[in-house]
Amino acid sequence: MSNIIECRSLCFSYSEGESKTSVLDNLNFEIKPGEKVAIIGQSGCGKSTLLNLIAGLDNPSEGEVFINSSNIAKLNEQDRTELRSKYLGFVYQFHHLLNDFSSLYNVSLPLLIKNNNKNEALVKATNILKKVGLENRLNHKPSELSGGERQRVAIARAMISEPTCLLADEPTGNLDANNAQDILDLIIELNENKRTALLIVTHDLSIANKMDRKFELINKALNEI
Ligand SMILES: Nc1ncnc2c1ncn2[C@@H]1O[C@H](COP(=O)(O)OP(=O)(O)OP(=O)(O)O)[C@@H](O)[C@H]1O
Ligand SMILES: [Mg+2]
Repeated sequence: MSNIIECRSLCFSYSEGESKTSVLDNLNFEIKPGEKVAIIGQSGCGKSTLLNLIAGLDNPSEGEVFINSSNIAKLNEQDRTELRSKYLGFVYQFHHLLNDFSSLYNVSLPLLIKNNNKNEALVKATNILKKVGLENRLNHKPSELSGGERQRVAIARAMISEPTCLLADEPTGNLDANNAQDILDLIIELNENKRTALLIVTHDLSIANKMDRKFELINKALNEI
C-alpha cells in the first residue's frame, strides 16, 4: 500500500542573512494510511518545523516530502492547497483561528472553501463542535474563548473534512487532564472509525504510548523508540 506521507533525505535549515541554522538532517520517514504515529523531542528540536514541511508550509532545503505520492514542493500554490485540503488536517501549536469569525464559521471554513453546500457545512460544523463540548460556544469568536476552547475549535476544524492524515502539533498542550483525555479519545475514534492516519507531536508520554509507533526527534534526526 502506498504511503500517505513519505519524507526522503529531508534536510532543513533556517536562513538568517548570511548564517544558516540546520534543524533537520537527512530524515527518512513514512506513514501508511490508518497508522498512528507520535513524535516527541525537546523544545526547539524541530518538531513544528517538520510538520510545516510535511504540510508544505515550508520547502525542504534538500530532499523530498511526498503526500499520497505527490512531491508537495513541486506543486504550484493552487495544487498544493488542493492536495493539502484533500488529504491533510492540521492542528497548529498556536491554533491560527480567524479572529473575526465565530467558532461555527472557523470550523465550517474548510468545507466552504471546497464549495460544499453552506447549510450542510454549518450543520456538520455544529455537530463536530458538540463533539468537542462547545455546543454553547458556536457564536463566540476566538478572543471570547479560553485557550483550551480555542484549541478544541482548531481540532474540530481539522477534523471536519475527514482528512486521510491528521497532523497535530501538541493538540492537548493547553488542556486540563479531563479535556485532554476527551480530545485524545476523539482523535483515536477518528482513527478507528475513518482510518485517519495520525501524526501527533506531543510532550505527553501517555498520548505517545497510545500510538502504533513513536519517534524521538534528536540531533536533527528521527529515531524510533
Ligand atoms: N523562522 C525561524 N527562523 C529561524 N529559526 C527558527 C525559525 N523558526 C524556528 N526556528 C528555530 O528552529 C528550531 C526548531 O524550532 P521548532 O519550532 O521546529 O521547534 P519545536 O521542536 O517545535 O519546539 P517546541 O517544542 O518548543 O514547540 C528552534 O531552535 C527555533 O529557534
Ligand atoms: Mg513546536
